[in-house]
Amino acid sequence: MERATPDLDIVIFGASGDLASRKVLPAVGAVAPRARLHVVGAGRSDLSDDRFRRLVGDTTGRAELAAGADWVRLDYGDPGTYAGLRMGLRGDSAVYYLATPPNTFSPILSSLASSGLTHRGDESRIVVEKPLGEDEATAQALNRQLATLFEESQVYRIDHYLAKDTVQNVLAFRFSNSLFETVWSRLFIDSIQITAAEDLDVGTRAGYYDHYGAVRDVVQNHVLQILALITMDPPTTFDSDDIRDAKTRLLRAVRPLDPATAVRGQYEGYLDARGVAPGSRQETYAAAQVGIDNWRWQDLPIFLRAGKALRRSVTEAVIRFKEAPHLQLDGQPVSCIPTLLVIRIQPNEEVQLRIGAKVPGAHFELVPAGLRLDYRRLARGPLPDAYVNVFAEVLEGGHSVFPGPDEIERSWAIVDPLLRSWEREGRPLPYTRGSWGPGEADALVAAHGGRHWITSDQEPGMG
Ligand code: BG6
Repeated sequence: MERATPDLDIVIFGASGDLASRKVLPAVGAVAPRARLHVVGAGRSDLSDDRFRRLVGDTTGRAELAAGADWVRLDYGDPGTYAGLRMGLRGDSAVYYLATPPNTFSPILSSLASSGLTHRGDESRIVVEKPLGEDEATAQALNRQLATLFEESQVYRIDHYLAKDTVQNVLAFRFSNSLFETVWSRLFIDSIQITAAEDLDVGTRAGYYDHYGAVRDVVQNHVLQILALITMDPPTTFDSDDIRDAKTRLLRAVRPLDPATAVRGQYEGYLDARGVAPGSRQETYAAAQVGIDNWRWQDLPIFLRAGKALRRSVTEAVIRFKEAPHLQLDGQPVSCIPTLLVIRIQPNEEVQLRIGAKVPGAHFELVPAGLRLDYRRLARGPLPDAYVNVFAEVLEGGHSVFPGPDEIERSWAIVDPLLRSWEREGRPLPYTRGSWGPGEADALVAAHGGRHWITSDQEPGMG
């Protein structure tokens, strides 16, 4: 059968793996109607074309994509084995998506270049998944290699949180409404907290997780990206370069995390998971105070926490405003209801403002009440998965949902002191599964001006 020439080859390294089946291939299926795509799976296993086609069919739900898909076996570090890949390409240009463990990135990138499949400045696009490095030095080495082999415009570094609509909405919320930006500083804000909590434990990913831990897995990337979007200065434009610049400037003002104002935890039972090293000291929970040294945020209490096997899955930023300076009735002070702004990334995606309102009736009595933007109602269907946004952007050649090299390196510089100290000494504090982590994290917040951790749906007046 004569096959139509595709616009684009999508080459997925590690295509038989878990990430590819759960996220990458379904996203390719979702964007398939936008272009003629040819999916090529590349990996070390000896998969037949038929088996790979079944996998593509099952994960994308698109029979035509599956029928045209091909599998190529290669050794990542041996450019000689890439000839089969070159022969299998049929499109005008190619996307190379590395859904493989981080230690394979360097050999794959070198082999792509030395086998002549990619050239600096040609049409090919390179997509790499976090973790991008293990510390600042290794992130710099990866960026150096990418910069040698490719133009920056060819490179897409995935932090899938940045591709979530609710995370992108932080930009719209802050910078398309003059109302909030005028109070967005230490003058009006009392404290900021960012929570990235998951109820699931490490599951089948213990082998990976035990090497990385909570800080490398989500704080260095997802959590610091959210922090940057919440606290950065307005970008000059909404173009991706300007947004990257604004985030980088903010991250440069973030003080490297201090082990003295951080708490690490490990949920009970973690050591029994298959793939976890005996006696592992890896953290599955991290909380830290964050200092931002600039005019806008100097000395403001800011905290972040992230972890697995916690009470509930919720990712949100809570901005607590200063209390009204004076409220008095019949000669008595009336206690205020603190104003909270909650930007909930997931689940129940929303922006909520918790304010004080008067109880209807003859008396002047205050109760907490919520003003709410239900973000899901803005979408005319379910919110797209972040990976669909990633692929849509790669197809269009845009970079707005991808972090740039400088912000990634700076984020590592922020977490490195914590990682080094925790690797050197001590043990994580145990916490019970289904709790909110070690009690010491509550003490941390209380001792540094944050009062207590806020989980928005437990706050009066918020649902
Ligand atoms: C990934 C981490 O980057 O993000 C996982 O490696 C984590 O450990 C996941 O579970 C969370 O993503 P999401 O989109 O499910 O919140």
